Amino acid sequence: MDTPLTDAETETQRQRAVAWIVALTANIPRPASHRYAQLLLARHQRGELSIAQVAALLSTSIYRVLYRSRATRHFSAGQLQELLAQARPENARLAVSGMLLYSEGMFVQAIEGPEEAVRALYARIEQDPRHTRVETVSEGLMPARQFAEWSMDFGVVEGPEVERVLGAIEGQQPPPGLAIVNKRLQALLQAFLD
Ligand SMILES: Cc1cc2nc3c(=O)[nH]c(=O)nc-3n(C[C@H](O)[C@H](O)[C@H](O)COP(=O)(O)O)c2cc1C
Repeated sequence: MDTPLTDAETETQRQRAVAWIVALTANIPRPASHRYAQLLLARHQRGELSIAQVAALLSTSIYRVLYRSRATRHFSAGQLQELLAQARPENARLAVSGMLLYSEGMFVQAIEGPEEAVRALYARIEQDPRHTRVETVSEGLMPARQFAEWSMDFGVVEGPEVERVLGAIEGQQPPPGLAIVNKRLQALLQAFLD
C-alpha cells in the first residue's frame, strides 16, 4: 500500500513540478494559433458537425494565451504579492482566469477568458517594464476554461533545485519519479502540452 506523502514531500514535489513546467516552456515549439477552431472546422469538413454546431461550440469557447518572459530584476515575495494584488481584482472584473509562475527570474503565465479582454490584457502585460523578452508559447480558442477557479493562481520556486530539474528535463522528459500531485500544476502542464 502507498504511504501517504507528508506535507513537506508534497510541497517539494509541487516545487519541482513548477520548475519543470517553467523550464519545459523554454523549449517547446509554438503551436498553431486557433487550434481548437481549426479542429472544429475539420470536423465540419468531415461531416461530423454542422456549421450551426461549430458556431455554438465556438460561442461558448474561451481564448487562452500562454507566454513566458524574463523579470527585469529580482522579484521579492512582497513585489510578487503586489503584482498579484494588482492583477486579481482586474482579472475578476474582466472575467479572466489564469495562473502565473515565477522561477529563477522567469515568468510563465496562462490567461484565459473572453477573446477581446484577453488580447487587450496581454497587450498591456507585454508592455510592463517589470519583465522583458515576452514570448507567446501558444494562443487560441479552447473548449473550456482550465483555470476557472482562479482569477490568478500563483506558484514560485527558488534555489538550486531549479538547476537540477533543468538538467533532468533535456529532451522535454519529466525528471524520473516526478509525480505531479497538485491539480493546478496538472492543469497548467496539460495546457502547455495541448
Ligand atoms: C508577469 C506579469 C504578469 C501580469 N499579470 C497581470 C494580470 O494577470 N492581470 C492584470 O491585470 N495585470 C497583470 N500584470 C500587470 C499589468 O502588466 C499592468 O501593470 C496592469 O494591467 C495595469 O496596467 P495599466 O497601468 O496600463 O493600467 C502583470 C504584470 C507582469 C509583469
